[in-house]
Formats: sequence, structure tokens, C-alpha cells
Amino acid sequence: MNGGTQGVLPDWTRGLWPAPTEALPAPAGATDRPIAFEPMTENDLDAVHAVETSAYGHPWSRRHFRDSLQAGHPAVMLLGQALPGEQPLPARADGRWLMGYLVAMAGVDEVHLLNITVAPAHQRQGWARFMLDALALWSRGQGAHALWLEVRESNAPARRLYERHGFEAVGLRRGYYPLSALQREDAVVMSLRLDAEHPAAHDMEPAR
Ligand SMILES: CC(C)(COP(=O)(O)OP(=O)(O)OC[C@H]1O[C@@H](n2cnc3c(N)ncnc32)[C@H](O)[C@@H]1OP(=O)(O)O)[C@@H](O)C(=O)NCCC(=O)NCCS
Repeated sequence: MNGGTQGVLPDWTRGLWPAPTEALPAPAGATDRPIAFEPMTENDLDAVHAVETSAYGHPWSRRHFRDSLQAGHPAVMLLGQALPGEQPLPARADGRWLMGYLVAMAGVDEVHLLNITVAPAHQRQGWARFMLDALALWSRGQGAHALWLEVRESNAPARRLYERHGFEAVGLRRGYYPLSALQREDAVVMSLRLDAEHPAAHDMEPAR
């Protein structure tokens, strides 16, 4: 599965993302293609923003991404080699798919997930779960005890993803997100403990 990625650590765990000690399980149902994580840079923002607007009804602006990069927040892209006959969209100079990305913010002993997105062509193959695994490994390596995030109350796919991954809803932020010119939407605050004993997400029973 996934070229050299199964059972070994991807390259992006070096440098910006220091190598953790465990291996990442690759998604079982995903298309078999070599993949890699690479740091997001400002040169990637056209492609990132194209995926963002194609995947999500409430997309970040380019400025959100640029501000995050300039603030030094960890931001990585999941890139996948094109298989014969595939023409990746958005087109990248290296011909690979931009399959997804995440942006996080590291605190003293916790990490806040700011954005996680999987391109529509690669959804429901386990890649968001894979990226969450990677983020959890990296966060543990940083000494973090918890991952935190906010999610729109109406974003059922993302809430289900996080619940399946072991996140628990711990609060509500009233009117946190803009919904329209006149309306706002609540955010559900979710948290995942990063204790060593915490069961791997894939071993957990589905949330009901
Ligand atoms: C939410 C999102 C990141 C999920 O990415 P993904 O790669 O498709 O997710 P995965 O394949 O790893 O799914 C893992 C689990 O999440 C849940 N899930 C994911 N997408 C779902 C959907 N559309 N409907 C219901 N459950 C869903 C399922 O439990 C799934 O496990 P299963 O496929 O075994 O049932 C993706 O839909 C996306 O990019 N959405 C737009 C951006 C967004 O909402 N980001 C989160 C903001 S807080």
C-alpha cells in the first residue's frame, strides 16, 4: 500500500515535523499510489485554495492560509503520485495530486487543528484519518497532551470523522462562525487526549 509509506515514516516527519517513533498505518481502502507529506509554502496557495473552495462551502480565504504560514503554524500537504491516465486537478508543476492538507497551531502542551481538508476526488478513502494520525504522532513528539479543534455544528461529515477518531465534544462556542451576512453558526469544541494508552482510532467502535 502506498509505495514506501506503509510501516515507515513519511519524509515530512523530518525537519518542520520531527520524526516520531511509531509508524503510520496507511488507509486500507485507498488507491495504491506513492504519497508524501510536504510542508505547505506560499507557492502552493493557488492549488491549496482551489482544493479548499472545491471541498468546502465555507472555505478559508487565501489570506487565512498566508497568515497561518507567516505565523509559522505547521502546515503540510498530502501529495500523491498520479496513476497512468490520471490528470491531477488542480494541476501542479510536479504532476502530483494535492490530495489534502492540514494547518495546525502548536501551544505549550496542546496542538490546535485549524484546518483539515481532503480534495473531493480523494474523499472517503481514509486520508483525513491518516492525516489525523500523522498530526497526533507529531503532536505527541512535541510533548502535547491533547489535540483541540472547533467544527461547525452543521458539518456532519467532519464531526463524524472526529468522533470516529476518538475526539470528544467538550463545549460549544455560540455564534463562532459566520453563516451568512446576517446569521452565525455555533462551533462544537472537540478534544482528543494524546495519552499513550489512548486506543488507536481504527480500533474504536463507531460513534452511534
Ligand atoms: C471532513 C473531511 C476532511 C473528511 O475527509 P475524508 O478523507 O473523506 O475522510 P475519511 O475517508 O478519512 O473518513 C473517516 C471517517 O470520517 C467519517 N466521514 C468522512 N466523510 C464523511 C461523510 N461525507 N459522511 C459521513 N461520514 C463521513 C466516516 O466515519 C469515515 O469513516 P468511514 O469511511 O469508514 O465511514 C472531508 O470531507 C473534507 O475535506 N470536507 C471539507 C472540509 C471540512 O469540512 N474540514 C473539516 C473542518 S472542521
